[in-house]
This record gives sequence, structure tokens and C-alpha cells, in this order.
Amino acid sequence: MKDETKHVQMNKAMWDQWAEAGTLDNNGRKSRFLREAQSKVVSLLNVKENVHFLDVGCGTGWAVGQVAKLVNDKGLFYGVDLSEKMIEKAKSNFSGKDNFHFLQANSESIPLDDNFFDIIICTNSFHHYLHPDKALKEIHRLLKSGGKLYILDPLADSWVIKFWDVMAKLIEPEHVKIYSMKEFQQLFEQAGLRYSSVKADWHQGIHIGEK
Ligand SMILES: C[S@@+](CC[C@H](N)C(=O)[O-])C[C@H]1O[C@@H](n2cnc3c(N)ncnc32)[C@H](O)[C@@H]1O
Repeated sequence: MKDETKHVQMNKAMWDQWAEAGTLDNNGRKSRFLREAQSKVVSLLNVKENVHFLDVGCGTGWAVGQVAKLVNDKGLFYGVDLSEKMIEKAKSNFSGKDNFHFLQANSESIPLDDNFFDIIICTNSFHHYLHPDKALKEIHRLLKSGGKLYILDPLADSWVIKFWDVMAKLIEPEHVKIYSMKEFQQLFEQAGLRYSSVKADWHQGIHIGEK
């Protein structure tokens, strides 16, 4: 059982370091891998003008900007992230835009209003959450009725990823757990979300839910 305070500290420190090093934005191997994954999610969204959109674990806000572009910035665009440094960068990337809001918060407790969002996404962040059930309950609370959730994360249905999960738990202090499709379905349903579909390949899945 992980010590909660220690986990949050290590998790923040790791992502603060990534933010300072520009790892998400430097067009290096990690950055390209993550952008490709985010692009896959963005391509699935049915975004309409005046959308209320949230990215949980938003990093420096790249996907938020991509979604906003689809509707010429017409809507309210939010990102939350545990790392203060990520949020600082996101704020500076969208400075001067009043309808873009970036907040430092843990996904398990997000200081935003109930029933507010049409679309929430979460990409390559979920396996770092100590209490995934709490994060999903928060997302459920934040979504409007009929609102949609898209979580992209590694998928523990192949032995390669199961092995990686075991190794990552040993070497990465902020890693928590990679879930299988069945576990995602159970987590969604326990949070009151309908698990409407999944798009998966051998190593990652996009889990789509609806409130
Ligand atoms: C690998 S990065 C992915 C960033 C971005 N979503 C992307 O796809 O490029 C993981 C992000 O999740 C954030 N994160 C990790 N644990 C979190 C938590 N408990 N609550 C909110 N954000 C968290 C990190 O700070 C980091 O920015």
C-alpha cells in the first residue's frame, strides 16, 4: 500500500521535472508518442461551438488547444494537472485567452462545478492515480448528463504491457497500475458511467464513457 502523501509528492516532483525539461513539447520521442495518442482522442470527439471541455492531467495544454481550434476557440476550455510547473506552462501557452482556464489540482478532487462539462478527456495520465475510483467519481460529478469521457491509457490485456506494469511499479515511484479493459469497464460502472465503447490495439485503449 502506497503512502498517499509520499506518492503525491513524488508524482508532482516527477512531472514538475518533465515540465521544466520541456519533455512534452520538445518533439522528442516521448513528446511525439504522447502527441500521437492525444491526436487519436481529439479525432474521436464530436466538439460543437460553446462546448465546455476539460482535460484531466492536461500537461502543458496541447490537447486543450487542439480541441479549441476545432471550434475556433468558441467555448470554455479547461485543463487540470497535479504539477504546478505543467500548469504554469499551460497558462503561458494560452495567455490572454479569457475562455481558457488551467488549474493545479489532483484528479481526485477537482475544484470545479457539478454537471458542467460536455466532454472530458484524460490521456496517458490515469495509471498515475492512486485512487482511480475517486478520480472517476469526480469526472462523473463534473460531467453534464449525456456528457462524454474519453480515457486513453496503456492497456494491461497483453503480456508485454502486464510485464511493463510490473517493471514500472519497481522503477517508477509515481506509477500506480495499468488496467485491463475489464477493469476499466468495472471502474466506469462503479462511478456511475456507462462504458459505451473502447478502441484498443495491443498496447493502449481509448475507453469511452457517458454519464
Ligand atoms: C505522461 S503526462 C501526459 C500529459 C498529457 N495528458 C499528454 O497526453 O501528453 C501525465 C500527466 O498527468 C499528470 N498527473 C499525474 N497524476 C495526476 C493526478 N493525480 N492528478 C492530475 N494530474 C496528474 C502529470 O502531472 C502529467 O502532466
